[in-house]
Amino acid sequence: MVESSKRDSGRPAAGSRIGVVGSNMVDLVTYIDRMPEAGETLAAPSFSMGHGGKGANQAVAAARLGAEVMLVSRVGDDLFGEGTIRNFQEAGIDARHVRAVPGTQSGVAPIFVEPSGENRILIVKGANEHLLPSDVEAAAAELRSCGLILLQLEIPLETVYHTIAWAAREGIEVLLNPAPATPELDVGRVLAATFLVPNQTELAIMTGLPTGTREEAERAARVLVEKGVRTVIVTLGAEGALLVTAEAVRHVPPVTVRPRDTSGAGDAFIGAFAQHYVRSHDIEAAMAWGAAYAADSITRPGTQKAFADAERFEAFRASLP
Ligand code: RIB
Repeated sequence: MVESSKRDSGRPAAGSRIGVVGSNMVDLVTYIDRMPEAGETLAAPSFSMGHGGKGANQAVAAARLGAEVMLVSRVGDDLFGEGTIRNFQEAGIDARHVRAVPGTQSGVAPIFVEPSGENRILIVKGANEHLLPSDVEAAAAELRSCGLILLQLEIPLETVYHTIAWAAREGIEVLLNPAPATPELDVGRVLAATFLVPNQTELAIMTGLPTGTREEAERAARVLVEKGVRTVIVTLGAEGALLVTAEAVRHVPPVTVRPRDTSGAGDAFIGAFAQHYVRSHDIEAAMAWGAAYAADSITRPGTQKAFADAERFEAFRASLP
């Protein structure tokens, strides 16, 4: 069993509450036969609207599986914002630090899903750009009770750096999902995070290296470990996931399903990983749990809409060979 090295250091066991400092979006999902060419208009089979955003998705996945989750996020002062806050409350998430920013619009994400289930996502960050370090300070008392904080890159980088530094001072573990990837991310300022969880594209952008195969992804992840990242978990889509630390490399095999819509699969993996990890502190077991949860989610359309609750996930696991 590979455990977090921080836990091995004798630090007192933290709580099983999960904090998320991150984004929310309204997903505008169009199911297409193919992308139109420039200047071409094309009819598409169907459209669906739902709650999304990487931070929100991860929070909802963990909460659906029974984790206690609190979220720090910003919405616009519009109807989408009101609906988003209601959605968090319905999911049982502590949303006291999800607030509307006057004069802004809520984040939206036009998503295009091909018949193979492959997705293409645009994001308009809107109010998410207004989630500031001072908002994290304002939520410090609640965040202090968390055993793990989840971060992504749909909010200002300064807020990400600030949260990581603050959590390190407080002795709270952090999982950074560097998504969407940006070459502006300063790896030197995220080294205090316990986990870095990129997909292959994000890993390629962060390292400038090829990551198309499992071997390439491992080599690229090692570069990050050599820079001082403690634990790299690469999500490999249909290939499962890869754990790379200074001491170990482990491959967690995929759970094979027929994909309907892969959008949000990475968030499903992380939310479920977090929910398992805060109770077990067993990284490999949490990865296998996350991989199964993500596999189940891609059999249904949508992002949060596709995330199972604990009962439904148990039924999925029971149906596996
Ligand atoms: O990871 C999937 C998510 O990315 C979508 O829900 C969309 O909102 C974008 O944030």
